[in-house]
Amino acid sequence: MKKNRMHWALPQMQRNEAGLLARGLLLALLAGVGPGVASSAERPVVDLRTWPTPDMDLSKLPDNEQSRMIRLGHDLLTNTSEYLGPEVPDHSKRYAGTNMSCGNCHRGAATVPYAAPLIGTYSVYPQFQPRFGKMVSLESRINLCFTHSLSGRAIPEDSIEMKAFVAYIEYLSRGVPKGAKLIGEKEMVVEEPKRAANLVRGEAVFKQQCVACHGDNGLGKRTGTVGDHKGYLFPPLWGADATSESASMFRILSTFQYVYVNMPFGQASWDRPVLSKDDAYDVAGFVVSHPRQPREGEVAKDFSNPLDKPEDFPWGPYVDSFSETQHKYGPFDVIRAEDAAAREKAKLEKEAKANLTSPPAAR
Ligand code: HEC
Ligand code: HEC
Repeated sequence: MKKNRMHWALPQMQRNEAGLLARGLLLALLAGVGPGVASSAERPVVDLRTWPTPDMDLSKLPDNEQSRMIRLGHDLLTNTSEYLGPEVPDHSKRYAGTNMSCGNCHRGAATVPYAAPLIGTYSVYPQFQPRFGKMVSLESRINLCFTHSLSGRAIPEDSIEMKAFVAYIEYLSRGVPKGAKLIGEKEMVVEEPKRAANLVRGEAVFKQQCVACHGDNGLGKRTGTVGDHKGYLFPPLWGADATSESASMFRILSTFQYVYVNMPFGQASWDRPVLSKDDAYDVAGFVVSHPRQPREGEVAKDFSNPLDKPEDFPWGPYVDSFSETQHKYGPFDVIRAEDAAAREKAKLEKEAKANLTSPPAAR
């Protein structure tokens, strides 16, 4: 039975998909997966920095229901405020708490490496989510961006909108093997300067490099006017209509890593950053020093296991001895060292406990 299904699945696969798959495997081989790399021998590697961008002319997709969902998902992602924002006429659809769009962070309709691209994302969920201390589905991960990044509430998992988001992300992920290791996902891991961020320098960088688009006050520039649910030309960096304080973009290292390779918009890219690391770090500190929608209710329960907290999470309690201010602005190496020691200790304790409680036969 199982064999039969495989047999039928292959011819049904589109040529294009099979080609992409072959290319993915080839890239994986080039990336060094194979004999000698035991730990990842079973895990193909896909490098999004060289992966071909999916065809964005979605009007070319076949005329069917699936294609309509993919197109809707694309529109929801790039024009979120028009469908699900806080100003849409239908109150029941006001899921997002800000007029920002998913695409304001997931640049290029979620196709840009290190701008939290969603290429391959369909292939790598469910995934462990440290905020919740458990595995989460793609739908829950999407909702995490609704509740945190867009300061809103979760959309129903069986809604048309959720199915459309998933359809679009599946489209973007075609050809990426299940469980692949993705290079170029999320933000680029960049080592930060080994000091606390300097907010005075940060403000100077902001005035020089950011105000032209994000405004003197950091509140961005609307496409139209307040109340028209048309979203932003330049999104706000803080304030009442920005991401919430529970979002990862309220953390200095996420913002630093994002800004370093993505801003100033139109000039910087992952292989050609414009700001120095010092400038990106200080301006990130300046950005996160401003309040936005508060972290309250359900989202305040994030990281209920303090061992899972990222080093730049600005709310205690912590497993180390550092203040909330140091967790917010650095320096981080001393924090990392203490956190690593605490995790190691917790691991050993857990193992010791497991050995004590398991029956002799199972040892
Ligand atoms: C304020 C910026 C921002 C907004 C707005 C935003 N996201 Fe995200 N999103 C991120 C960042 C940053 C990440 C990567 C976080 C990380 O490091 O895990 C992410 C991760 C994700 C992931 C998981 C990707 C992965 O690699 O595991 C999905 C899916 C996602 N977002 C969907 C959405 C959708 C859908 C919307 C709109 C409803 C949205 N996001 C709005 C910043 C944002
Ligand atoms: C040329 C205009 C321009 C400049 C200059 C610019 N940005 Fe942006 N920025 C944008 C646009 C446009 C977006 C949204 C991207 C999109 O929708 O594709 C964005 C998005 C962002 C985001 C993610 C979304 C959000 O609102 O949180 C951050 C953070 C950000 N910019 C920070 C900065 C910082 C810091 C600087 C200065 C170092 C800067 N930008 C300079 C145009 C600009």
